[in-house]
Amino acid sequence: MENRISQELLDFVSGAWVWGRAWASLKAGIQSLVLSAILFGMAFGAVPAAHAAPTPAPIAADASLLQLSQNRQLVSLGKAIFEDENLSLRRNMSCATCHAIRAGGTAESDLGNRLAGVHQGSAFQGFALEPSADNAMGFRNVQTSAYAAFSPPLKRLHQGDSVIFEGGNFWDGRATGFMTGRAGQEQATQPAIGTLEGQLPAPACVVYRVLHPDRKGQYPVSYQSVFGSRIDLIRWPKDIDTQCSSVKGTVQLEGQARHFSSDTQIQVAYSNISLALMAYEGSAAMSPFSSRYDDFLQGKAVLAASEKRGLSLFNGKAKCASCHATQVNNRGLKPLFTDYTYDNLGIPRNPANPIYRSTWINNQGRQWQDLGLGGFLLTQDSYREDAPDQMGKFKVPTVRNVARTPDPKFTRAYMHNGYFKTLEQVVDFYNSRDSKPRCASPWTPVEEAERQGCWPEPEYPQTMNTTELGNLKLTAAEQGDLVAFLRTLSDRQS
Ligand code: HEC
Ligand code: HEC
Repeated sequence: MENRISQELLDFVSGAWVWGRAWASLKAGIQSLVLSAILFGMAFGAVPAAHAAPTPAPIAADASLLQLSQNRQLVSLGKAIFEDENLSLRRNMSCATCHAIRAGGTAESDLGNRLAGVHQGSAFQGFALEPSADNAMGFRNVQTSAYAAFSPPLKRLHQGDSVIFEGGNFWDGRATGFMTGRAGQEQATQPAIGTLEGQLPAPACVVYRVLHPDRKGQYPVSYQSVFGSRIDLIRWPKDIDTQCSSVKGTVQLEGQARHFSSDTQIQVAYSNISLALMAYEGSAAMSPFSSRYDDFLQGKAVLAASEKRGLSLFNGKAKCASCHATQVNNRGLKPLFTDYTYDNLGIPRNPANPIYRSTWINNQGRQWQDLGLGGFLLTQDSYREDAPDQMGKFKVPTVRNVARTPDPKFTRAYMHNGYFKTLEQVVDFYNSRDSKPRCASPWTPVEEAERQGCWPEPEYPQTMNTTELGNLKLTAAEQGDLVAFLRTLSDRQS
């Protein structure tokens, strides 16, 4: 592979960095029974008699997303966790900061979307500064958190002569679901302690802060009332607040009484917290299937003529539905507008991505390429051979809510690197990637490319899809119809 990537970045991309830290202490000396219970997100409800709080019904190890998302206590807890800004290093950033329902499950930051298209971490100080642990900036655009929980675990499949991958979470599929059978749960273990997001130094900090809310009523449903109060037996270190306020903090837990290990309890609780987050993400609160298109499918709404033409184009001439599926899927779910596969659309580099001037996680300067799924597979013993064909491919996102904004003037950013700023630009790119000339500079921003009538070269040309997009021969009016249809996919304001 000529594209060498710094080990640190690779670790981050593989999730090994974060995951490794999260589970390092878990590995030591835990009975396999406990381990499998943790991995399947089973709640340890039983508490010794001294703690006689009512024991909540345990959540079945194999509970489906539907069952989880209909458990109202669990969903309410998940919502409170999702919206808790304390679950980040500087207590300034919740999941909802980057995944606001009003912004279609993406970042409610008009400025960030316009200037960069990628987003800052908890210890961010300013775009003008070089990215570092104390000025953390991500290098990928926010994916919507809505409908993401429906993604099945990552799977390798044969399609004709070629191998394709399906499922997983994140643009590169690194939240695989291999450990728990639930990609969404594994995804939720990463952000609060993620180097580029919440930046908390350890899972114990997340658990501690969930158990010690800083505002009364912040958690209408307590952790204990869903998962039991065994967690109360943990004796927290006195300096935990100090440790959890530093990127390099460490949390040393005591409390290794008979039949009780604080470390194990933290792992169980952390897993339970991620389960609650996933339940909330999959619930009607975040994934309501309440768009005008859903109403139309049920005969409760009509589409305007232009929207209807857009729907036909989406399913036909424009080929969108071959990846953004409009049919009820094979698990009986309503259309999710993704087939969960990965593809390389030939998206240009986003010149405003701070990764190009970061020496912190990138040692290649402007040579850096985002390898997507292939970059992740390189880190996996069992899939390394598949990596070359999957380089530069990214998860097909749902296009539900792509048009949703908190106000009409708000700018969204699209694709894994946030290169595009409007749906018109996106559709124009699908239509004319191969028919317009190449821009002279690979660093041409989208507005400039549109003005010059050219497209910059792809970020990763080798694996680009040349059969399903690039020269669709759509007229300007047809492009407009497609955008009109995309606008019918916004869920009702609730
Ligand atoms: C600093 C902004 C930021 C914060 C805070 C944040 N996220 Fe994200 N989220 C992102 C970015 C960026 C991605 C895509 C990253 C990638 O693919 O490498 C993402 C991806 C996701 C996805 C994957 C969607 C899919 O289709 O696979 C989910 C789900 C998600 N985040 C949920 C959460 C939860 C839960 C929290 C809080 C614990 C959270 N996020 C906090 C920025 C953020
Ligand atoms: C070959 C599969 C494929 C086809 C065909 C396809 N898409 Fe996509 N779509 C993707 C992938 C993969 C991404 C993410 C690519 C990336 O970020 O690098 C994406 C991203 C998008 C996004 C951005 C979503 C976001 O959250 O950033 C929109 C909007 C979109 N597609 C609309 C369409 C429309 C409209 C069509 C038809 C004109 C279409 N797509 C055809 C695979 C496809």
